[in-house]
Amino acid sequence: MFKQKKKYSVFVTRAIPEAGLQLLRKHANVRVWNQTSPIPGKELYREAARADGLFTLLTEKIDKKFLRANKHLKIVANYAVGFDNIDVPAATALGIPVTNTPGVLNEAVAEHALTLMCAISRRIVEADRYVRSGKYHSWQSMLFLGADFFGKNLGIVGLGRIGISLARRAAQGLGMKILYTDPRPNREFERHYDAEFVKLPELLRRSDFVSLHVPLLPSTRHLISAKQFAMMKPTAYLINTSRGPVVDEKALVRALKKRLIAGAAIDVFEKEPRLAPGLTKLDNIILTPHIASATVTARDNMSLVAAQSILDVFSGHRPKSLVDPAVWRKFLAARPVS
Ligand code: DGY
Repeated sequence: MFKQKKKYSVFVTRAIPEAGLQLLRKHANVRVWNQTSPIPGKELYREAARADGLFTLLTEKIDKKFLRANKHLKIVANYAVGFDNIDVPAATALGIPVTNTPGVLNEAVAEHALTLMCAISRRIVEADRYVRSGKYHSWQSMLFLGADFFGKNLGIVGLGRIGISLARRAAQGLGMKILYTDPRPNREFERHYDAEFVKLPELLRRSDFVSLHVPLLPSTRHLISAKQFAMMKPTAYLINTSRGPVVDEKALVRALKKRLIAGAAIDVFEKEPRLAPGLTKLDNIILTPHIASATVTARDNMSLVAAQSILDVFSGHRPKSLVDPAVWRKFLAARPVS
């Protein structure tokens, strides 16, 4: 392992929690793009050229061209568990480690998925608007009837850490039956939560709530499109806190307009931050601006994990959350121990 001889420099592509910045500043020279909108490409190239490590957000497109132009980078630390904004194979080929922030946001994202389930099925946003607009004149037996959870089927698409956190809440807290789909069954999970492994079409046919927890891959792009909406119950709700392009947003608008499903609550969008035409006109959808992990605790911890990964690499230690562990050998070979 090599010792950190000099003070390396880190470029942080947007304001992040102080926790991560303080840690970085103890050991490195830190520059931050302190604006609310994403850094323009030209500026990013300029800043990256003089940085040893990059602390990126999911809004930064770190593609092959960028990586080739910045071969000197010792690390790209993404402040997210998802890393579809980074060309990881290209980074590995160049010996640049890419890290993410798994583990510290599971509970926050699962809680947001659950919040969306509650809000859409109990029509909270619609009801709030109704009261604010002065329409509430008297109690009515049929006002804002919604759907309940107890005994209903929750279909979890993608059984990673977040899917499991949501299942725990739904099975143990709400008395829901868990169906799940994933490339492989998880028998221990099934025993623990009395869950059932099914293929996606069966999950869609049987679920009252469908919650998406898959990474964005070529195989998951438009995983939910017109064909899949047609399989769902007309009383079902779709929840998406994963990545926008997992759902065909135009097909979602059509399905909601035609009431093929009862509703949807989504935190992510296909062409973020742009929305598919018609989405905001619908009353059976709730939209949040990619905030599923936005709790103070989760975001502090995400900033600490990403900062620590950078410092680990600077001091020659293998960071815990390497997206592609195969890069490490290459990294050490390209930057020999000194
Ligand atoms: C992630 O971590 O991938 C989220 O989308 C942002 O927290």
